[in-house]
Amino acid sequence: MRVAARIPCKVWRNSLTTHTMSAPTRPPLARVEPLGQSFEAPDSLTILEAAGFANLRLPRSCRNGTCRTCICKMTAGRVRYTIEWPGLSREEKTQGYILPCVAIAETDLVIEAPDAIGLPPSR
Ligand code: FES
Repeated sequence: MRVAARIPCKVWRNSLTTHTMSAPTRPPLARVEPLGQSFEAPDSLTILEAAGFANLRLPRSCRNGTCRTCICKMTAGRVRYTIEWPGLSREEKTQGYILPCVAIAETDLVIEAPDAIGLPPSR
């Protein structure tokens, strides 16, 4: 549940007004199918990095958006990229393919990654 609070703040021209501020929201959740596991994907991490912190191994190689080893289909959600030209065609983007190694989750999302592996928690 989102909690909102009205707090006064000073704005330019020295007038006093109130603004509605929302409490911080949780990071987006990424779900990997058919594994059925979810993990938080904060905007400070790529989806590949966030999966790694959650002990999920996604296919990968270059980690810079060129080799396409990590390509997978996103069936729900929205991402942005850390690089200007990720190695995807316009058609692939339209069809929902993403490169998790250079993609940041902007919303909750679902990706199809049949070769993903759930790892035991590290100690
Ligand atoms: S690991 Fe090479 S493009 Fe993602």
